[in-house]
Amino acid sequence: MNAAKSGGRMFARLGIGLGAVPTASALSTSAATPQLISHYLLHEPRATWEALSAAFPSSSSAAAAAHHGHADAVLLTLAKHPHASAEPIAKNPLTYFHWSAASSSPSSPSPPHSHSLRSYCLLVHLLSRAALFRDASVLIQSAIAKHSSSSSPASSFLDAFFAAYEDSGTAATTRGLHLLVHAYARLRLPEAALESCRYLSDRGVVPSLSAFNAALHAARGAGAFRVAWEVFELMTLKRVYANHSTVELVVGVLSREGELARTAALVGRIHGKKCAPSVVVHAALVLRMVEEGRVEQAILLVKRLLQRNILLDDVAYSLIVHAYCCTGALKSAIEQCDDMFRRGCRLNAFVYTCLIKAHCHDGTVDKALQLLQEMLSKGLKPYDATYSHLIAGCFRQGKVEEGLEYFKDMLREGFVPDVKSCNKMLEGLCNAGEVCKANDLLTAAMDKGLVPDQDTYQMLIVGYGKVGDAQGIVKIYHEMEHKGLKPGVDVYATLIRCLCERGNTAEADKFLAVMKKKAVAPTGGLYDLLISSYCEKGNTKRALWLYDKMMTENENFVPSADTFMMLVRRVIEVKTACSPNS
Ligand SMILES: *[C@@H]1O[C@H](CO)[C@@H](O)[C@H](O)[C@H]1NC(C)=O
Repeated sequence: MNAAKSGGRMFARLGIGLGAVPTASALSTSAATPQLISHYLLHEPRATWEALSAAFPSSSSAAAAAHHGHADAVLLTLAKHPHASAEPIAKNPLTYFHWSAASSSPSSPSPPHSHSLRSYCLLVHLLSRAALFRDASVLIQSAIAKHSSSSSPASSFLDAFFAAYEDSGTAATTRGLHLLVHAYARLRLPEAALESCRYLSDRGVVPSLSAFNAALHAARGAGAFRVAWEVFELMTLKRVYANHSTVELVVGVLSREGELARTAALVGRIHGKKCAPSVVVHAALVLRMVEEGRVEQAILLVKRLLQRNILLDDVAYSLIVHAYCCTGALKSAIEQCDDMFRRGCRLNAFVYTCLIKAHCHDGTVDKALQLLQEMLSKGLKPYDATYSHLIAGCFRQGKVEEGLEYFKDMLREGFVPDVKSCNKMLEGLCNAGEVCKANDLLTAAMDKGLVPDQDTYQMLIVGYGKVGDAQGIVKIYHEMEHKGLKPGVDVYATLIRCLCERGNTAEADKFLAVMKKKAVAPTGGLYDLLISSYCEKGNTKRALWLYDKMMTENENFVPSADTFMMLVRRVIEVKTACSPNS
């Protein structure tokens, strides 16, 4: 208001009516204040570079005028002005922007001064308002390139950009804000694109569908799958629903993660036949949210997707049952099943499997087995997850025979158990002293494609230790090495302890050397074990040698009192035996 008034006084003094285009001759005699320049830009139909130079010759005042604060002030005045985006003057701010940079150092060979971030942001909003998106995009991308660095994260840029939007007052439109997401996407910065989606959403400006799609595209292209899912989740939560392009992008992500077939099979199992890709990707989103513990949010989202007919009835209800089961809310899950049934949806193998899993987890395996019978009587086929939960549940409850039966059924049906439930089974068998059976089962499962992990072998090593089969332990160790699994200190400790207990001290000692070679630090306990084992065997020389090593290796290593006393006694015995005086 004040600026406008003082600008008006200036023109009045120069003898120019407000609203008239100031002539070059009139202006050249005056100081080029921001008010004057913005007035000129708002009224000149086409402010060319030449016209600007003529109107504001680079006198000392004009040079000063072109400096940061000045350009910012000019652009802010324009950004606030309701007519600044009207044709034909919409491009004037852009011309001024370039001109002011160049004219600040007309004769010097140094590069023109760079614009402030503020100027960039104001101008991007101005251009977007005039729908000059191409110019705005180019500008915003160079602003990001100039003003973002590893030391200044996207957030400071976002702050500046949003401040420029807010400062434009009533004249502002959100068009420019969406462009920001597009710009980060085009620059292949999916993290920053996601951050700007979040930033804008938090401030009540929900990005457009095309902005979200652009962010997804960038994330998929960069292989940033986590970011892609976060974008998809955010847009869906903000009620910007996927169109065909979105679905295609998310299908691409699922497929590159190797999860497409599994998710499509899961949804198909619920519905009884193949479902549209849109159903698959939304179900995948819900499953991820549940997996990551955002259960309440996931259930709300399912209900909303159901209302909008994005998810099918049976798929939606089944996902809710799954969500309840995952939090252990078995009662709610069962109520949901009843509700589902009342609404005319048939219970399906997925829902049964969810309930079976929950019961197995709760330790109510009998109830789980009952559900399995019910499921079979309805002609529903159990699948790999059903079996895995049952097997793990049985073994956890010590029902070894039943567990083994389901394992055999599972293999017979051509399913491969997942490694976690397989480990549960091996643990159960090993605890029951059935390590050979466990080893056979592992072989059978590996034939069907199971890939064992560190825990698998650790179970077997403990199992062999329990029955005192030192050779078995060593064999498993070598198999582990062969598979490229790096045994950790736990494995070596088990190995050494078991070998010592079996009296294979020399063999155990070799593994201490192996550990060192593989850069796995031995513990004081392991030295202790070997020293006392050698003492018992009567190999005092080696026991002493290990004692020295133990002391020099780590100042915190001390032998236990028992071991130390045993060693002392041995040394005295040896001394007495060798003494010529005795
Ligand atoms: C989906 O939305 C985007 C962005 O709004 C648009 O460019 C695209 O054409 C749409 N795709 C389809 C298949 O409707």
